[in-house]
Amino acid sequence: MAAAWQSRVPEPRLEYVAAVEDLPPGSRKILRVRGREIGVFNVDGRVYALKNVCVHQGARVCLGKVSGTTLPSHVYEFQYGHEGRILRCPWHGWEYDVTTGQSLFDPAVRVVTYPVTIVNGGIYVRVGGAGTV
Ligand code: FES
Repeated sequence: MAAAWQSRVPEPRLEYVAAVEDLPPGSRKILRVRGREIGVFNVDGRVYALKNVCVHQGARVCLGKVSGTTLPSHVYEFQYGHEGRILRCPWHGWEYDVTTGQSLFDPAVRVVTYPVTIVNGGIYVRVGGAGTV
């Protein structure tokens, strides 16, 4: 028999969020899925899902500008890269890699991400279950 707290944890579930054709590369959608707001991004043909909450002070981070960043390089050299992959929080500018949810200044700091599955032209995000937020 399950403990009382276990019965309150929702089972993980794949939730339909969009048709693949409605999320072309470089685009995003923000929607509510089982009580949480999630940003779904297409970065170079791969789809990623992030919780729309910045870990700094809770801004709706998925509304931020998506761009690239300067890459590690030699002194006086500036190499730009990762175009379309870096999400900049609209409040204070913290930057996250959309493909991992990790902060650029400290990879241990990360926005919550959700697994994405593509089935028959549909994009599904796995939410719910123990340990998910
Ligand atoms: S709330 Fe996102 S950087 Fe401050």
